[in-house]
Amino acid sequence: MITISPAGPADLAAIMELERTGFDTGEQWSETGWRDELTGDGRTVLVAADDDQRLLGVITLRTTGEVADLHRIVVADDQRRQGIGGRLLEAGLAAVRALGVRSVLAEVRFDNEAAIELYQRNGFEQLGARTDYYGPGRHALILKRYDLDLEPGAAT
Ligand SMILES: CC(C)(COP(=O)(O)OP(=O)(O)OC[C@H]1O[C@@H](n2cnc3c(N)ncnc32)[C@H](O)[C@@H]1OP(=O)(O)O)[C@@H](O)C(=O)NCCC(=O)NCCS
Repeated sequence: MITISPAGPADLAAIMELERTGFDTGEQWSETGWRDELTGDGRTVLVAADDDQRLLGVITLRTTGEVADLHRIVVADDQRRQGIGGRLLEAGLAAVRALGVRSVLAEVRFDNEAAIELYQRNGFEQLGARTDYYGPGRHALILKRYDLDLEPGAAT
């Protein structure tokens, strides 16, 4: 069984391992970057773990008022396409919605088909693009999930 729960500082080493399997060297976050996520203001960091407490995925969002930024989502490369990313995203959206968030922004490399599909399946729409955002020829798409507060089950 896979459990989704809030992350803590003790998860840092396992999160760094996920980071290494999830991103090219030039795009990996440093340990300091992840520590800031785990301890910073307004962050929602959730992890997915199996029964053996192996960390299979992580998501982090930053909330400012009624808007949240989806900073990162990564699933272990041998565990993908089993719905873990979807569960993490749903749980992350529900958590920020409970904080009063109405819309969520995400930046993603234009050729990251897996993430774009995942976001669009969860109601994100393309808002714009940033040329060369991740380096020459590596453009970013900006996606936005609107009306999170109108989702069925949202607090009124
Ligand atoms: C993006 C990522 C988190 C998806 O995690 P996942 O656990 O594989 O996602 P799920 O199994 O929940 O997939 C849900 C849906 O997303 C879409 N999707 C996921 N991976 C896909 C792929 N490789 N190609 C196309 N669509 C994909 C599909 O619509 C999928 O539903 P389906 O399997 O029923 O077709 C994972 O691929 C990953 O960690 N990538 C590396 C890190 C990264 O790029 N993160 C995003 C930027 S921060």
